[in-house]
Amino acid sequence: LHSPLKVAVVGTGYVGLGTAALLAYFGHQVVGLDIDQDKVAMLRRGELPIYEPGLGELMAVCGDRLRWTDDYASAIPDADVIFICVGTPPLPGGQPDLRYLAAAAQDVARNLNGKMQVVVNKSTVPVGTGDWVTRIIEEHAPDYKAHQYNVVSNPEFLREGTALFDSLYPDRLVLGGNNEHGVARLLELYAPLIEQDFEAPAHVPRPAGYTRPEVVATSLSSAEMIKYAANAFLALKISFANEIAGLCERVDADIEEVVRGIGSDTRIGRQFLSAGAGWGGSCFGKDTSALISTGEEYGYDMPILRAAVTINLRQRQLIVAKLQKHLHRLQGKRVAVLGMAFKPNTDDLRDAPAHDTIARLNELGATVVAHDPVAMERARREWGHLKYVEAESAGAALVGADAVILMTEWKQYAELDWNEAVKTMRQPVVIDARNVLRGGLPGGTLERIGRRGQSQPQPQSGPALHLKPEATK
Ligand code: UDX
Repeated sequence: LHSPLKVAVVGTGYVGLGTAALLAYFGHQVVGLDIDQDKVAMLRRGELPIYEPGLGELMAVCGDRLRWTDDYASAIPDADVIFICVGTPPLPGGQPDLRYLAAAAQDVARNLNGKMQVVVNKSTVPVGTGDWVTRIIEEHAPDYKAHQYNVVSNPEFLREGTALFDSLYPDRLVLGGNNEHGVARLLELYAPLIEQDFEAPAHVPRPAGYTRPEVVATSLSSAEMIKYAANAFLALKISFANEIAGLCERVDADIEEVVRGIGSDTRIGRQFLSAGAGWGGSCFGKDTSALISTGEEYGYDMPILRAAVTINLRQRQLIVAKLQKHLHRLQGKRVAVLGMAFKPNTDDLRDAPAHDTIARLNELGATVVAHDPVAMERARREWGHLKYVEAESAGAALVGADAVILMTEWKQYAELDWNEAVKTMRQPVVIDARNVLRGGLPGGTLERIGRRGQSQPQPQSGPALHLKPEATK
């Protein structure tokens, strides 16, 4: 019994598309706007410019509650709520590039109708940006002045690959504004989410035990800080696990056991403590750097965050070092890389650890054969500077290889019959950079991150080491 609102969503990246689909699914009238005409044309044809499982299905049931345009004048004047979800890519110094946000805010401002519309910032932006957007709007929309405090920050916490699940069943909803009208409007808009008053889509069922998100209403700057602090904390949890994993290897302890032991303490929690190739993606690197550089602007050092970043870089180098431990010189060696995107279920290549691994292998003169279930096409466009041969399948990548690095934990990689697959390799060296292979690898040499019973360095043609099967978790 919620009254549908009119919504405009500016920017059709992961965040914008997810927001548009979610709100249309809840019954609101949504128009998604992008200045990229190709993207708009694709969306109108019912195609998605990104890979996100289940999103297309959700959009398909929204019918004409969800439409697309590249024209501000047709989207903004009618909207009750306008979401700005444009990209804020990192600049070399660490701070995000706010150019697209400024342009979007200006175009939104010029088309406002002066009737208490609410402008919501969903892009990840440095603390204080909400006020800056308010000023842009004041400058470009004179009528808006009387209601200048209607800019709200509503950060997004969704993960790529599970965006729908995260949007439908979030832990919390953060709404930051400096006046009541904006926040009240968003409470109205999100009522179906807050009350979980919607029919769960068949392909994204409501998890057992889930009730509703916690609503966290804050000031504008606190909401902006929450987004950064949350990502930075997750990033440092991962770096912490990786740092401990390195010590585990040296003292013959096992990171998986250790993490189980510490993660079961509810104050710590098991999530985001998986050791491996480290974090990647569009958020963690960008947001930790931005927070550090905001600190610098105020003469405030943030040593914990700096260490988290350093450890993450070191972790990437560790992967190739592990390879060298077994293959020694990599010049002329054939190395299979399984997984290019920064994690499974996405084709997003931004800040992917696999990029650095392939670049390093190129430098060392190895021949790289790469495979990814969904990211290879994107890699053709974005990774033209790297040298690698595309493999048709994971199995094909392994044939004749001297080693394989499992970079992303795609289910299909974990489920390969590894004992059979390594028989096709020239040398059965497997670097499991995500600790996903269960059991030993009797026919080969298995190297993982922070696990007990790592293979010892051995001559290239030496006998394969027999690992004891692991205890089941
Ligand atoms: C992240 C945050 O989770 C999300 O809340 C925020 O809104 C955007 O940034 P995303 O970038 O999609 O989401 O990726 P996420 O699933 O969090 O993974 C980030 C990286 O950390 C991946 O490269 C992943 O492989 C790595 N990771 C994650 C680990 O190395 N270990 C872990 O235990 C968890």
